[in-house]
Amino acid sequence: MTSSGDATATDAQTAGVVAVADCWAFAERQLRRLLRRAPGQTPTYTENGRWVLNEDPWAPTWSGGFLAGMLWILAARTGDAWWREQAEWYSRLLEPRKDDTGTHDIGFVLEPSWGRWYDLEPHGHAREVLIDGGRTMAGRLQLPGGYLRTWVDPGSTFIDVMMNVGIIFRAARYSDDPALWDAALRHSHTSRRFLMRGDGSTAHEAWFDPQTGEFLRTATHQGWRSDSTWARGQAWAIYGFTVAHLHTGDEALLDAACRAADFYIAATPVGQVPPNDWSDPAPPEPWESSAAAIATAGMFRLAAVRGAGERRDRYRDYAKRSLRALRTPEFLAVGTSGWEGIVKHAIYHRRNGLGIDESVMFGDYYFLEALDLAEHVDEGEEEP
Ligand code: GLY
Repeated sequence: MTSSGDATATDAQTAGVVAVADCWAFAERQLRRLLRRAPGQTPTYTENGRWVLNEDPWAPTWSGGFLAGMLWILAARTGDAWWREQAEWYSRLLEPRKDDTGTHDIGFVLEPSWGRWYDLEPHGHAREVLIDGGRTMAGRLQLPGGYLRTWVDPGSTFIDVMMNVGIIFRAARYSDDPALWDAALRHSHTSRRFLMRGDGSTAHEAWFDPQTGEFLRTATHQGWRSDSTWARGQAWAIYGFTVAHLHTGDEALLDAACRAADFYIAATPVGQVPPNDWSDPAPPEPWESSAAAIATAGMFRLAAVRGAGERRDRYRDYAKRSLRALRTPEFLAVGTSGWEGIVKHAIYHRRNGLGIDESVMFGDYYFLEALDLAEHVDEGEEEP
């Protein structure tokens, strides 16, 4: 099951790294097993390695798109009709969410599902779903302050919301609606200004006076404390600002993505996985692997930005090493009997006691995305 990996790695670095083909085969087995056990269900995290099928007690359902996204990745890679059928079915189950005004996570739900479907095979219905979802998401714009509000409060926004501007930019392009474009751009710049600090680290949440738009303070839900750096939030920033730049070509957003990535790299030695929050002096668990999976996928995307030059090698090489760490049996559940997820040692919500040192669906999704991107990263650059 182990491979000799790439020729440039030392023996120590290579030892125990699971071959890419075996990672894919393992992911297929795990997903087939979940689809058989709980058809149509979209769990968020595991408990003792088993997917929890109850409603997520922390957030209005936000993670359903990740399972559909993995099914689309497999459908596209394998050309297998069964994966394709499942991907379509899971995506259709999510279609009503295009009108969901109760969450700021419409992009998380619809981009891995309907977005991947459209990217694979552009068609009118998927386009309509994405436009509707983008409009619903843009409806969260809080004009004073210029941010997309979270489900927590009209005065709150999260760094995670940067992962949900992409669907608004898409909807703006597909429908030729400048108001949508403006909403996504305004939110991106507000996030850059108030959620990103001078050293490139990020806060989880920013609070504003919803009437005047005045910035009040930062806070956190899943990190250590209000002035700390929650690793997954940092990873969302890398990925989210990169996507915002790819849609707009806006250099300030590219700079934000690079600064977020540089902070992550400085805080996480090459080939390692961060804790839940770097500022916590005594993190109860050593790792939050979903942050590593998201940052890895985000850095592969950042490395592919047109004209990245020197940056390209820096982010690509770091991402390759990070992916190798996740491919070891310490993280990949390949040798863990009875475990239903793909990547172990993630944390969903430490304070609320949810999914601690477990698998999370978004960690599995971004791991597979990173595995997929790694195969193409040397091929070319993405259009902004
Ligand atoms: N809801 C986004 C996250 O838990 O990262």
